[in-house]
Amino acid sequence: MSDTLEFEITRTERPTGADERARILAEPGFGRYFTDHMVTVRYSAERGWYDAKLEPYGPIPMDPASQVFHYAQELFEGLKAYRQPDGSIVTFRPYMNAARMNRSARRMAMPEIPEQLFVDAVELLVRTDKDWVPDTEGHSLYLRPFMIATTRALGVNSPAHEFLFMVIASPSGLYYPRGIKPVSVWLSQDYTRAAPGGTGEAKFGGNYAASFAGQAEAVAQGCDQVVWLDAVEHRWVEEVGSMNLMFVYGSGARARLLTPALTGTLLAGVTRDSMLKLAPDLGVPTEEGKISIDEWEAGCASGEITEVFGCGTAAIISPVGRVKGRDREWTIGDGEPGEISMRLRQELVGIQYGTRPDPYGWVH
Ligand code: COI
Repeated sequence: MSDTLEFEITRTERPTGADERARILAEPGFGRYFTDHMVTVRYSAERGWYDAKLEPYGPIPMDPASQVFHYAQELFEGLKAYRQPDGSIVTFRPYMNAARMNRSARRMAMPEIPEQLFVDAVELLVRTDKDWVPDTEGHSLYLRPFMIATTRALGVNSPAHEFLFMVIASPSGLYYPRGIKPVSVWLSQDYTRAAPGGTGEAKFGGNYAASFAGQAEAVAQGCDQVVWLDAVEHRWVEEVGSMNLMFVYGSGARARLLTPALTGTLLAGVTRDSMLKLAPDLGVPTEEGKISIDEWEAGCASGEITEVFGCGTAAIISPVGRVKGRDREWTIGDGEPGEISMRLRQELVGIQYGTRPDPYGWVH
């Protein structure tokens, strides 16, 4: 299989006008507006990847019997393009997203895509819709590569053999309207996000569909986000909302960072990985381990745990200020964003927006 393909390019005849685009970019929100183009690449078991296209953004004709509609055979990724001080544009660790999509594909019995084809598709869309990359601080162009099973068949004995890979792009402001103000979280004990042997470590749409009821319960409990616990004992902390979780113990020169280890039920976040590399270089040692809800509560009561935050591509860092469970409730630190969380955020954002050097070779 060749590592990439020639893309057939069809530009839109009705691009969004400059005024309309400026109005959107002034207040993009998250995932509400889409750029003028999209990428599509087809796969069949006989031909491999073929028919790579850049096309005007728009609806795609689909057979109602396509397997994705019935059995949710789907994968997605999320990464961002950032405007640099000199006007150029970079993406952040795109090969890591490509590699993760392929790990997800193996779990979901879907075809792997050559990493170079994935990155070329992303790059082509960013180049074509470059005027959609915001130049406002903190804003970016969110890129959504995804893959769906298009085989027309309702039988589940033979897995799909035709797939569609696409990339769409959406200008993005703050993921949470409250910005980096600490969120309150609900410990979900009735719903679980992922079980051993399940699909938790795949970036698979069904994991997110299954999370909505837990998120709704969190909101009904007066909280912003849901915390997912392990499916067996319901006491080990796994993730928050759609993000990985980080715990800061101690402060100043004695601070250290703990995050739940990747046991197969957690998503291997690119931001998580970046934090684990950045923190030691800022003098904060890290550990991948296990933390129970009892240890979390006790750690906050004793003052040992000083900061907790969720991290992900969309929100970057989202500090957690208050925790609520069935019969318990506590606050973390003084309920304000912590010093280590903010330093890590600044460092990462500096690399992404090109205001700090990138000794890791992350920007592309
Ligand atoms: C992330 O980037 O943190 C996500 O996974 C969010 C996405 C599901 C909107």
